[in-house]
Amino acid sequence: MQPLHWENLELNNRVVMAPMTRGRAIHNIPNALMAEYYTQRSSAGLIISEGTFISKEAIGWHNAPGIWSEEQQNGWEKVTERVHSRGTPIICQLWHTGRASHSDFLNGKLPVSASAVRHEGDKVTVPSGEEKEHETPRALDSNELPRVVSDYRDAAIRAKAAGFDGVEIHAANGYLLDQFLQSKTNHRSDAYGGSLENRYRLLREVIEACAGVYPLAQIGVRISPNGSFNDMGSEDFRETFLFVAEQLSSFDLAYLHVLDGLAFGFHELGDPITLSEIREVYSGRLMGNCGYDSDEADQRISDDDADLISFGRPFISNPDLVERFANGWEFNPQGSQETWYTPGAEGYTDFPVFKDADSSEMELEESAR
Ligand SMILES: Cc1cc2nc3c(=O)[nH]c(=O)nc-3n(C[C@H](O)[C@H](O)[C@H](O)COP(=O)(O)O)c2cc1C
Repeated sequence: MQPLHWENLELNNRVVMAPMTRGRAIHNIPNALMAEYYTQRSSAGLIISEGTFISKEAIGWHNAPGIWSEEQQNGWEKVTERVHSRGTPIICQLWHTGRASHSDFLNGKLPVSASAVRHEGDKVTVPSGEEKEHETPRALDSNELPRVVSDYRDAAIRAKAAGFDGVEIHAANGYLLDQFLQSKTNHRSDAYGGSLENRYRLLREVIEACAGVYPLAQIGVRISPNGSFNDMGSEDFRETFLFVAEQLSSFDLAYLHVLDGLAFGFHELGDPITLSEIREVYSGRLMGNCGYDSDEADQRISDDDADLISFGRPFISNPDLVERFANGWEFNPQGSQETWYTPGAEGYTDFPVFKDADSSEMELEESAR
């Protein structure tokens, strides 16, 4: 529960709210209900927004927000203002879904990726609600990549204008930047494929572009070396991600956010990469995630394996997760997964904060007076 401060970020504690897509941004525009949801969870030391599309090409999830238009920027501004009024920093997760999308999101155009390698995993839910097979994506031409990089920069500019304290570059969970990093999905023979340096190039350029907008100390990067989500997992994952982590050390980033836990799907292609292995090659602040409880989080931080731990699912049904951790209070029952992505307040902003028996009695007595 120790605070953590660096440059422009002041975290009251080390419990971070992990990015979570919740599908409440009708027409990709953030709204008052979302502001309420984030404000309810603002005792977190830091909030990382749900994945936020950098451009129309990046869309791949129904009613997830974007940050390419003025209307979206204005919607986000209302979120950041309310979260800041509670003294909590909030960072925008910049998202391009790449091959995980479908032409139904993209006006009939094929999704783009590093290479024309099809997602063979679960089907994709398209805007009509139908589940469809993934399509073989179109490999981005090397002369399109500067435009993709500048889409990230433009998104960072709007994130800054909307009052976000920084951006997290989403290079995890099988989305576009992960598709470039991993040999499973990157079969390119140009400067963006083949060697480790080349597969890492696009991520490096995106960081450099965002660094023209925010100081590096306000830019985070998320990776998922062990994850199988979105049909990922490469034979050379250990070599790839230890190289990436080492390269990222050369930037003085806000943090490197690693899904080290296996509770979001493990590809089983070798021993999972641990936080302590990342620590050996990465010298900056490190955030662990996936399947943690408060004891394990405390342990990792006191062992110096991590500086911060983020929590996803526990924040869904416990808006006051930090207070529950601090006081050893019980958790709300987990809500139904059926409302993870459905519009409206149900399963979103309707989870109560903890009231112990004594305080409820006191309140009853006070209201009777
Ligand atoms: C409903 C839901 C939505 C998610 N959306 C995102 C997202 O937008 N971006 C992202 O990087 N991870 C996303 N994740 C993954 C979480 O950030 C986190 O890595 C995962 O839930 C594991 O952490 P946990 O065990 O604390 O829940 C999502 C997870 C859930 C359950």
